[in-house]
Amino acid sequence: MGLAVVIAMGALLAPACSDEPAAPVSEPAPEEPTPPPAEPVPPEEPPEVPEPPPPAAEVFLGAGDIAGCTTRFFDEATADLLDTIEGTIFALGDNVQGPGTDADFADCYHPTWGRHKARTWPAVGNHEYNVPGAEPHFAYWGARAGPAGKGYYSYDLGSWHIVVLNSNILFEEQYEWLAADLAASPRLCTLAYWHHPWFTSSTYQGPEELLRFVEILDRAGADVVLTGHAHGYERFAPQTPEGEVDEERGIRHFVVGTGGAPFHRFKRAEPNSEVRAHAYGVLKLELSPDRYTWEFVPVPGETFTDQGEGRCH
Ligand SMILES: [Fe+2]
Repeated sequence: MGLAVVIAMGALLAPACSDEPAAPVSEPAPEEPTPPPAEPVPPEEPPEVPEPPPPAAEVFLGAGDIAGCTTRFFDEATADLLDTIEGTIFALGDNVQGPGTDADFADCYHPTWGRHKARTWPAVGNHEYNVPGAEPHFAYWGARAGPAGKGYYSYDLGSWHIVVLNSNILFEEQYEWLAADLAASPRLCTLAYWHHPWFTSSTYQGPEELLRFVEILDRAGADVVLTGHAHGYERFAPQTPEGEVDEERGIRHFVVGTGGAPFHRFKRAEPNSEVRAHAYGVLKLELSPDRYTWEFVPVPGETFTDQGEGRCH
């Protein structure tokens, strides 16, 4: 093999031994086509934003005239209803039907409706005042009954203002407090509850001082009043304090003495009384920002019910 051949082979082998990467082979870039003149782009429609859903209604349910430790009482059955319905609970007074002692609360109320104490706001009834000062009532409920010894207070529930009054004592100081409480509330919808009814077709109407409660609430544009004391269920058309139907601005009154105590008779249908019944159960309200619905939920075995709706004013 001649020298020239050796040199030529060396030249051929050399690139294989080099660490240098082979230079990329560049190709000429294809010519970009000239884009056509841009068409004007119409402004984009803003994406459709769905309306926010209305705030959920607050469920507010309960009754009055509830617990006793004898078999004549149906508070076990109405408490079983509460077990199945979420929401805030009102107890309209005579929550214990005995003499209102500590033992009545511990032995009779607590095992039934007392299961739901942490979501209950009570009014105080006449049975509780069988013990001077209704002391066992205030001891049992603590802060949930408002200031001790008073039995009246208020709170907000969703978009509603709720007022609890004491229909047994302290009327004069409540008139002043109620007017100020309502004046300070910016809420469109207001509901008040206490124990004795002002409107009832039974013989269990409360004391005449209650008329002022109704007048003050009416002037402030309140919407719904709940009471108990008359054992049974009654619903009235919206009406003025004087008992004139006023569908636009009247207050709708309910008597819900259906929590478990034995029933009272109705003597006759009072004016504007729309529904009267003897059935154990609870009244279930759904409180929306500008309206409410109601439904009487009976215990199993009862067939009575009552439903409807109203608007706040
Ligand atoms: Fe009562």
